[in-house]
Amino acid sequence: MSVLSGKNVLLGVTAGIAAYKTAFLVRLLIKAGAKVQVVMTPASKDFVTPLTLSTLSKNPVHSTFYDREEENEKWNNHVDLALWADMFLIAPTTANTLSKMANGLCDNLLLAVYLSAKCKVYFAPAMDLDMYKHKSTKQNIEKLKGFGNVFIPPASGELASGLEGEGRMAEPDDIIKFIENDIISKLPLRGTSVLITAGPTFEAIDPVRFIGNHSSGKMGYALADRAANLGAQVVLISGPSHEELKNTSIQIVAVTNAEEMYLACQSYFSDSDIAIFSAAVADYTPSKVASQKIKKKDASLSIELKPTKDILATMGGIKKDQFLVGFALETNDGIRNAKSKLKKKNLDLIVLNTLQDKGAGFKTDTNKVTLIDKNEKITTFELKSKTEVAKDIFDEITKKLHA
Ligand code: CTP
Repeated sequence: MSVLSGKNVLLGVTAGIAAYKTAFLVRLLIKAGAKVQVVMTPASKDFVTPLTLSTLSKNPVHSTFYDREEENEKWNNHVDLALWADMFLIAPTTANTLSKMANGLCDNLLLAVYLSAKCKVYFAPAMDLDMYKHKSTKQNIEKLKGFGNVFIPPASGELASGLEGEGRMAEPDDIIKFIENDIISKLPLRGTSVLITAGPTFEAIDPVRFIGNHSSGKMGYALADRAANLGAQVVLISGPSHEELKNTSIQIVAVTNAEEMYLACQSYFSDSDIAIFSAAVADYTPSKVASQKIKKKDASLSIELKPTKDILATMGGIKKDQFLVGFALETNDGIRNAKSKLKKKNLDLIVLNTLQDKGAGFKTDTNKVTLIDKNEKITTFELKSKTEVAKDIFDEITKKLHA
């Protein structure tokens, strides 16, 4: 999956012959899963038509401050466009636009959007060899880099003038790869291994029956997706769950019962930098598993249970540098019980959810959590989607790791 997936990409097109390549650029961005809007300088419409770009981007193209053709003239709000974007890619960037950007000129919609943009701006210059070599162009590029904009270098080759040399806009494929690599290189959990447990465990009674619980795995899967999106290498040890992962880079280890989860954690824990135990592991398992289906009788039936290993407490006992996170699902005395688990299991952070909060806990798509760190600092959060809760948890972890 591309790191561009789900991102709002605003493509700025200026008036160079390379503008014809923006049709391919839009297609590649859409293929990578990005949402695309296009803003063009008026003169760039001589090189590629707005109709082409609006068809490919599936969005209207913006080029003027207001649309004259519409019955009710409509103001194209450059601030809204800039705020919508997760990134602004200006490709091609002509020498003229480059110079205007460097000097804060604002005589068209694209430049107004650029000046209002708070997101990352990528610019891919395209011009003739001598224009590219000119000192003022070099200065403008340096100035823009100094503003925090990211320069996508042009390629060498045959130019529209017939000259050979530097100045051709980078190929659309290379632009996409450049941006993906730039995003990946800045992800906060790049080079970090994250281990996550999720879902319930099923403890067999006989070949057809088990003792289980209502955990769906939703919270753990959301955490795994979040960690992978932040650039981590993720191993997800999951009990039986119907959840699906969005990020295909995650390694999933499927287990059924507490003992299997314990063994899997033992294999992966020592290589992890962050370990989050969100699984609802059975505390007890049948002492004996009947080899044949237990037949119905008139008398009552007792099943003897023995305790399972506490996986989290075991890993807390052997941890070296791992940042260890546990969950506590409580019905009463939440803070007190969570603090005691945090200490007993040697954790760095515990995520408390109480079944008293509506919308929190098993099976729901939402959760309401309180985070308690090892200094007993308590942070409470509102009821949110589990995806957002996963974001809050990782924000807290990355803050602590980089403190
Ligand atoms: N946990 C675990 N292995 C177990 C039981 C629990 O790894 N055998 C982990 C859970 O994944 C969770 C944390 O321990 O991160 C807390 O689990 P919980 O069941 O709430 O705590 P217990 O210590 O089992 O206490 P109790 O059931 O009495 O509340």
